[in-house]
Amino acid sequence: MELHPDIKEVILSEEKIRKRVRELAEQISEDYKGKTPVLVSVLKGSVIFLSDLLRFMKINPKIDFIGVSSYQGKTQTTGEVRLVMDLKDPIYGEDVIIVEDIVDTGLTLEYLRENLLTRKPSSLRICVLLDKIEARKVDVPIDYRGFVIPNKFVVGYGLDYDERYRNIPYIGVLKEEVYKR
Ligand code: IMP
Repeated sequence: MELHPDIKEVILSEEKIRKRVRELAEQISEDYKGKTPVLVSVLKGSVIFLSDLLRFMKINPKIDFIGVSSYQGKTQTTGEVRLVMDLKDPIYGEDVIIVEDIVDTGLTLEYLRENLLTRKPSSLRICVLLDKIEARKVDVPIDYRGFVIPNKFVVGYGLDYDERYRNIPYIGVLKEEVYKR
């Protein structure tokens, strides 16, 4: 497949992602057999991951969405996490799985975990596609992890830079010149 002109390097190909997402979906289906977990997708980056994960699942989960903001459109975190859109339904007594695209400092997931736990779900787990372990500032328990990746800013498969590149089907690193535009 032709490389997007703004991409310098592909970190994870479509095939690699598909295979791993399928494995994660099978694992979750096994662990939640007979249950109806609620997959809480963190907007907007995780929607592609969520939809692929869902299609490979052998159980029938419910889905809901939550929106947080920490990055202000650039590549650096401000360290401050805000809830910008809440779940539609209560999660009291539910088996909840947070579905997130990437964990970097861990601040977003820590905030979400604390926030959702106050609503007393029956259980709460975290599923992330990408983990930049080296960048971690706060420890957050990751129950399902797709890939550990280097501490580089990545785009594609739902992940953006300034709201762009979400549609690229693989995970890649942008050329330096893109940041100077
Ligand atoms: P954390 O709070 O630092 O763990 O960052 C998590 C959030 O930052 C994710 O939900 C992403 O929206 C964003 N983020 C972190 N690293 C990247 C990246 O490499 N590309 C795109 N977004 C990222």
